[in-house]
Amino acid sequence: MDKIIVEGGHKLNGRVRISGAKNAVLPVLAATLLTQGKNEIREAPQVRDVDTMVRLVSELGAEVDHFESDHVVLDTSGIDNPVAPYDLVSTMRASCLVLGPLLARLGEAKVSLPGGCAIGARPIDLHIKGLEALGAKIKLEKGYVHGTAKKLKGAHHVFESVTVTGTMNVMMAAVLAEGETVLENVAREPEVTFLAEVLNESGAKIGGAGTDKIIIQGVSSLRPFDCKILPDRIEAATYMIAAAITDGDVDVLNCVPSHLEAINQKLREAGVTLEEKQNSIRVRGNGELAPVHIRTHPYPGFATDVQAQFMTLMTLAKGRSMITETVFENRFMHVAELKRMGADILIEGHTALVTGVKQLSGAPVMATDLRASACLVLAGLVAERDTVVSRVYHIDRGYQNMEKKLSQLGAAIRRVK
Ligand code: UD1
Repeated sequence: MDKIIVEGGHKLNGRVRISGAKNAVLPVLAATLLTQGKNEIREAPQVRDVDTMVRLVSELGAEVDHFESDHVVLDTSGIDNPVAPYDLVSTMRASCLVLGPLLARLGEAKVSLPGGCAIGARPIDLHIKGLEALGAKIKLEKGYVHGTAKKLKGAHHVFESVTVTGTMNVMMAAVLAEGETVLENVAREPEVTFLAEVLNESGAKIGGAGTDKIIIQGVSSLRPFDCKILPDRIEAATYMIAAAITDGDVDVLNCVPSHLEAINQKLREAGVTLEEKQNSIRVRGNGELAPVHIRTHPYPGFATDVQAQFMTLMTLAKGRSMITETVFENRFMHVAELKRMGADILIEGHTALVTGVKQLSGAPVMATDLRASACLVLAGLVAERDTVVSRVYHIDRGYQNMEKKLSQLGAAIRRVK
């Protein structure tokens, strides 16, 4: 299994280009199931989750006409299999995004339940309730969610709590339902808005995406689409923190600054200098980090997907910061690893109290999930001596060429087999 070795102590300088957003391309790949014909997806990030989703839609009957570099062409004329098997769903929770599109397209979907994962139970009950509101009959059988629907019908549905992929799943199903659907208490993440825009370009009638109420007028069919994936705000935040923690000076290119507002605000509070331009942000360290408190929240709040990376930054702040995780019940798995590198962190329920230390020290550490892995690499950038991060397959799920991008900025980082 691959490991990443980071030698700490190098300031990052230069420019880094952010890839397309993993969390935008996965729903767009699922949305191809709603169309019949050739869909083109550009600027897809070259990460393992994209490979998995492309394999899944092929399993369902799509033909992969082209899949090279960041350009995917999928012909969905022949979708005929409603079964998303366990081996694909178990490696990537977002596979459950095919549930809504399959129900709308084939009137049937049989999707393996994703099961637990490192950051919590992550059930899909809210997806199921939303699809049931549209008239789907859903049963749980032998570890699979089995849904059937002769014809989905528009409905008024209020989500009990905010769910990103749940909103996307029900929105995609409602696009081909009969009549009007009103979804309330929906997720406002930029990736939800992006998906709605892609679907609208194909003939869907979705209004309100980006607010907490989405209204969909059902249509009978969608045209295939040709889209360019929006930049990954979580990847951008990770490189911004890398620049800040090494006291460097980095231009983060190809990002949407307005998608990063909550994070930018906290970086500024910590004393980091940010210069926002139209599609890029210059990030400069100021020699000293101030402690700041953060509380994760659905968008536009502070993203839970940046919590671990920001915690690494706070391990070196001058004073005590409080980091509260409100989205997932078990997302402090990285704390034990950071402590092995000398961080001073105390967990009290859903809050981590981080007291800044002068220096982290390199250690062998283990990645437990995607963002936790990134936080350990960030810690390695500033730790004394070498940090060896194992289980880096987590990083490969969601970060395109992380070692290459960091090396180009001046980090001493390498992958060993
Ligand atoms: C998406 C993102 C993930 C991010 C998360 C929160 C994708 C592919 N993944 O995941 O990177 O960390 O949003 O911003 O976009 N919940 C239920 N029942 C459900 C659904 C969710 O109880 O049916 C709970 C979850 O356990 C969690 C909370 O709701 O505690 C939010 O989860 P959700 O927004 O659904 O996360 P994902 O869409 O899985």
